[in-house]
Amino acid sequence: MAIRVGILTSGGDCPGLNAVIRGVVERCAMQDVKVFGYHEGWRGVIEQDGHWMDTAEVESIQGRGGTILRTSRTNVMKMENGPALVRRSMESLGLECIVAIGGDDTLGVANQLVELGQPMIGVPQTIDNDLNCTDYTFGFDTAANMAMRAMDDLCTTASSHSRVMVVEIMGRNTGWIAVQSAIAANVNVCVIPEFPLSLEEICRRVKKRYDEGKHYSIVALAEATRIKGLDEDLERLEKDSFGNYKYPERNIGQRLAEAIEEKTGLETRHIVLGHLQRSGAPTLFDRVLGTRLGVKAADLAMAHDYGKMVGLAGTTVVAVSLKEAVNMRKEVDAELYEIAEMCCR
Ligand code: F6P
Repeated sequence: MAIRVGILTSGGDCPGLNAVIRGVVERCAMQDVKVFGYHEGWRGVIEQDGHWMDTAEVESIQGRGGTILRTSRTNVMKMENGPALVRRSMESLGLECIVAIGGDDTLGVANQLVELGQPMIGVPQTIDNDLNCTDYTFGFDTAANMAMRAMDDLCTTASSHSRVMVVEIMGRNTGWIAVQSAIAANVNVCVIPEFPLSLEEICRRVKKRYDEGKHYSIVALAEATRIKGLDEDLERLEKDSFGNYKYPERNIGQRLAEAIEEKTGLETRHIVLGHLQRSGAPTLFDRVLGTRLGVKAADLAMAHDYGKMVGLAGTTVVAVSLKEAVNMRKEVDAELYEIAEMCCR
């Protein structure tokens, strides 16, 4: 029997997912390999919900945001008999492996399934860019571009009203989107989890600008940053099925803006970029990277080379150990942060 491969997209959606799906389906079709697209991530696997895909379905989808297979944050490892249900689903469809496209949570599940003897291949997907063993994840470029453009634009209203503008940026536990968009846009203070500034220091920097005759400030704030002087009990936040805090519920941007206004007397507003960062059409970079990763994942599947994650090393697409990739979070390094410090004045 010809090889059959399953594919799913799981976790928070991100621009470029459809490019990966197209890459996998097109590459497999070249070798007459059949691809079964599960609906809504691991939920579709458990409930055997999906359909057989063909090249007509993936024609021209690379420019569309989101995922045509839809997604969910279903955690099969938290379900009774989850791994057994995955095996049953694969067996009943005659699938040799599943190409799991997702962030650290999805790939963590894929790795646990590999350790239980189930053949999986991972494709790293997240706007957060926090996955180890790949220089970039697709989706990040689109999100960081959106944040950059937003902060460029916000300068006009901030400057007209002589205000401080706090911009809350996604990224979960890391500050990749905030730091890179801060370097690229006209940002004056960059606050990220890896190198957090205290409330006192943020206020000092903002005040100094006004004392120097610069009458407005843009503060780029990564959503998970803990700010000394603005303490809170994170345990009050809800967690998702993988145990991640739901950071958008923190209202950290609003709280920081209120504290800056109170401490400096400067009129301050906040804006939450939110899910717009994950929405809309992917950039060229994300479309091309997604396609290349999809092609590589299909090649691994056809070579029966499981337990791997595809990634970008420099300009080359490589296969790395899935276990190693999910072992550690990739954080913003001091060198990049220092450049942001130099640029943000
Ligand atoms: O992991 C991607 C991400 O967009 C994070 O940056 C953010 O904290 C989270 O997902 C939001 O999750 P949800 O879409 O479930 O609100």
